[in-house]
Amino acid sequence: MCGIFAYLNHLTPKTRKEVLDFLVNGLKRLEYRGYDSAGIAVDSADGRNVSIIKKNGKVQALQDEIYSREADLAFEATADCHVGIAHTRWATHGTPSERNAHPQRSDDDNTFCLVHNGIITNYKDIKLFLTKKGHTFESETDTEIIAKLMMHIYKKNPNDTFQEIVEQCIQQLEGAFALCIKSKLFPGECVATRRGSPLLVAIKTKTRLATDHIPILYGKDPAEAKAKTDFRPHGGTAAETLTAASLMPRTPSTAEFQPMEEDKQVEYFFASDASAVIEHTNRVIFLEDDDVAAVKDGTLSIHRIRRNMDDPHAREITTIKMEIQQIMKGNYSFFMQKEIFEQPESVVNTMRGRVNFDTQSIVLGGIKEYIPEIKRCRRLMLIACGTSYHSAVATRQLLEELTELPVMVELASDFLDRNTPVFRDDVCFFISQSGETADTLMALRYCKNRGALIVGVTNTVGSSICRESHCGVHINAGPEIGVASTKAYTSQFISLVMFGMVMSEDRISLQQRRRDIMKGLQQLEEQIKEVLKLDSKVQELAKDLYQNKSLLIMGRGYNFATCMEGALKVKELTYMHSEGIMAGELKHGPLALVDETMPVIMIVMRDPVYTKCMNALQQVTARQGQPILICEKGDKDTQEFASRVLEVPHTVDCLQGILTVIPLQLLSYHIAVLKGCNVDCPRNLAKSVTVE
Ligand code: F6R
Repeated sequence: MCGIFAYLNHLTPKTRKEVLDFLVNGLKRLEYRGYDSAGIAVDSADGRNVSIIKKNGKVQALQDEIYSREADLAFEATADCHVGIAHTRWATHGTPSERNAHPQRSDDDNTFCLVHNGIITNYKDIKLFLTKKGHTFESETDTEIIAKLMMHIYKKNPNDTFQEIVEQCIQQLEGAFALCIKSKLFPGECVATRRGSPLLVAIKTKTRLATDHIPILYGKDPAEAKAKTDFRPHGGTAAETLTAASLMPRTPSTAEFQPMEEDKQVEYFFASDASAVIEHTNRVIFLEDDDVAAVKDGTLSIHRIRRNMDDPHAREITTIKMEIQQIMKGNYSFFMQKEIFEQPESVVNTMRGRVNFDTQSIVLGGIKEYIPEIKRCRRLMLIACGTSYHSAVATRQLLEELTELPVMVELASDFLDRNTPVFRDDVCFFISQSGETADTLMALRYCKNRGALIVGVTNTVGSSICRESHCGVHINAGPEIGVASTKAYTSQFISLVMFGMVMSEDRISLQQRRRDIMKGLQQLEEQIKEVLKLDSKVQELAKDLYQNKSLLIMGRGYNFATCMEGALKVKELTYMHSEGIMAGELKHGPLALVDETMPVIMIVMRDPVYTKCMNALQQVTARQGQPILICEKGDKDTQEFASRVLEVPHTVDCLQGILTVIPLQLLSYHIAVLKGCNVDCPRNLAKSVTVE
């Protein structure tokens, strides 16, 4: 997790205040990725040193600190060329504190300063090695060893370029990282690299960019490498453990991206995701694992140590389609609230251009070619974490029905723990809003190595899961900023339903069922609008519930996923204990929790499990429970047994979960507001979980 942002301007004069504002605003956009502490490194006012400013807590605290040092930071001075790096942290190694905040540095002189997203798994070995060489450490982070290792490499090879130092350094790192580095030794230069954690470079020029691609510079065959360092983490020879020396000589520098004459006034942004740069430019390059992007004299070059057979020759400059309004809160108090209320629109966007209600057909362009292969598979596996996993649970039954294939639903972490058998004729779906969740990505690679067909279902174009899938569905829900996932869930749900529909197109026996689902999909927009009108009623309910310690949510069949998802929303946003209970399991244990004081929400729809749900409802009332019911509009018979009722419109059974989850999204939101919790940034969590 953690958010990384960096800015470099070349021949584009900016006041230092402008540069600082770019950095702080970039961090604010990335704050959903972590908000334990924040920091920046910029050129000192005299340009000869690097100033680091760090604050514990949110980006606002950092901004206040920067503004309190206006004179010291020479706000009004103009910088023709400046490099600033910035970071917002989600603590993994070391408690949240200023000492552990990033940027981390190589020494008291701030010779190398860097920001890091990820975890270095061999940091203890490197730390031991560096300690023996006389380095001392000021933080508890894994990140600090990277800065110190760069210093060590520089001292051994003082003539190496900035990019070469970084390349040698990352050869020694194990684990995941996205890094942006600034050095006092290399003013006006910035180097960025990634492995496992996301990172993009965005380019802003005064005129339209004269190129669409940046060629990649490759090193020589690693076998020719000569050792330049003495760090041997695994006891190998220096030549085996350090291949970076192989970088020299490189292919001619004409392969670099040199802005055309009119593009020479250039600004570069480095960021963990596109929402942080979109207000500046929509031209971005998504870096791949082990790319090293270096900017020097306004020229960007992308380097790789070695070339694999099927590597492309260049990185594409992509034009991203994201509007700035999409990442602003507008009139809403929180992003989560905005995102809940965006659902009538986001579900339509998920179906747009894919579902044709006139011809009753669905085309998913991203997997169309693979449908015959999928139809021949042994089984479907849906693999994800958290809310995304719940979308798989929600649609499993329908997929079994429409595809007539066995469907396994797996939590990515558990799937990996079990070394689950996977075969070449399996089709594995990886569902992820961010497209960067480490557990999901690891599971993807595990399945890909075993020859399975990989289908990505993500909300983030250019994300790792997108790029590493054979084919996929982009859910098109629009940027989701609130840490708690809402609109992505309903769009994932619909994407999987659409997949089931595509798979069952030629099944004569399912034609009526398919027509019912089509009708349901068509009505969703209006029905979600109707559910959202429950907002004030849900707010009243929240007032009754927010002081309770616990909340149980029960249901079964198509609505079990809603129970789990509702309970997850309640616990992550309100810190109240909450459990989603499969109503069929009630008498096997959870019923012991029920008494007149325990709040219980029950979902009872007129679907095939209605009678069984009514049994559960009666078991609860028999133990003096006071169930709050989510049920179908006008279902007076069922409502008789409830203390309070939230009515949602009727739709086809397999889509009902989209309508039943929304009152629970609203409920968790209102309880969180009443309890004074930070709705968009719940404690201890981050939006994009890029560590295992
Ligand atoms: C809960 C929530 C998380 C995510 C989970 C997976 O509201 O957002 O449970 O669903 O961390 O994230 P993605 O979907 O990005 O893989």
